[in-house]
Amino acid sequence: MKDNMIINPEITDNSEANLETTLRPQMLSEYIGQTKVKESMKVYIESAKQREEALDHVLLYGPPGLGKTTLAGIIANEMNSKIKITSGPAITKPGDLAALLTNLSENDVLFIDEIHRLNKSVEEILYPALEDFVLDIIIGKGPTAKSIRLNLPHFTLIGATTKAGSLTTPLRDRFGIVHRLELYDETDLVTIINRSAKILDVQIDETSSREIARRSRGTPRIANRLLKRVRDYAIVLGNGNIDIKIAKTALNKLEIDELGLDEIDRKILETMIIKYQGRPIGIEALATTVGEDLDTIEDVYEPYLIQIGFISRTQRGRIPLPAAYKHIGEDYQLQI
Ligand SMILES: Nc1ncnc2c1ncn2[C@@H]1O[C@H](COP(=O)(O)OP(=O)(O)O)[C@@H](O)[C@H]1O
Ligand SMILES: [Mg+2]
Repeated sequence: MKDNMIINPEITDNSEANLETTLRPQMLSEYIGQTKVKESMKVYIESAKQREEALDHVLLYGPPGLGKTTLAGIIANEMNSKIKITSGPAITKPGDLAALLTNLSENDVLFIDEIHRLNKSVEEILYPALEDFVLDIIIGKGPTAKSIRLNLPHFTLIGATTKAGSLTTPLRDRFGIVHRLELYDETDLVTIINRSAKILDVQIDETSSREIARRSRGTPRIANRLLKRVRDYAIVLGNGNIDIKIAKTALNKLEIDELGLDEIDRKILETMIIKYQGRPIGIEALATTVGEDLDTIEDVYEPYLIQIGFISRTQRGRIPLPAAYKHIGEDYQLQI
């Protein structure tokens, strides 16, 4: 995926990472939307605190930019725990994980991002650590090697992934709490944009917040990024306040249409509707034809196109729906 792509829900550079830190909610009460997740997390956290025990291990999954890392930080804050942050690909050997685990204190949170990318030998160390809070290590080599068992503090693992389906069953089964984060609706995105505007000290009217929200693909990270870009236009073209005229000018310049679709989305829809004439298409064929990474299509593009009712997944492949035909100006033909 191109780095400068505006709808890329992954973090793209350092300045954006800094911006995220300022905008990131710290407590559950500031975390907007995801009501079901919030309500149940509130209960689990409160219960763990009353029992004075570590919270059960938590798995958070869903597309990038929806607030998995944010929620992990919030959980640690609400538990008054310290958080250590790492990621699946960063833990290359069992010793790395052993070092992380032995450095934890009672009730600490260990956050492993992209947990589906842990390698097998590392994952196997994790099982007994999660289940019994023990670490089995082998000392020495060959016939004199001994296995010893170390006790670990009771900690909470929070795993995040965009691909829950890629997790092995034994790993997934060790999470007591599993939550899927959903794309945000327009109202929640408006609230997020207004909150961020306040923190950034920019004036924005309701119509403009709504316009940005509609083009944010249900994703807070994209909403915040669009807000920042629109603010740039407001500073250069006006007095720094965002009104609808400036918002629309900026968003159009960014080549994001009124539904938040970009060039790749349009290529996907044209491939499905014109090239394949609405016949079911497999994800591999789609990725090849569009010239985009398979994971990106699956994790980023597809969830939103499904959410807005443009495509549907069937057993034989993905098919375009009438709304998609209408959007690209083609007549719908029912495929039989
Ligand atoms: N529920 C939320 N309420 C307010 N802002 C949010 C929420 N979820 C995410 N954000 C914003 O979106 C940004 C991206 O969220 P992040 O937790 O990094 O997503 P993920 O880890 O799922 O990719 C955060 O910096 C935060 O500012
Ligand atoms: Mg993250």
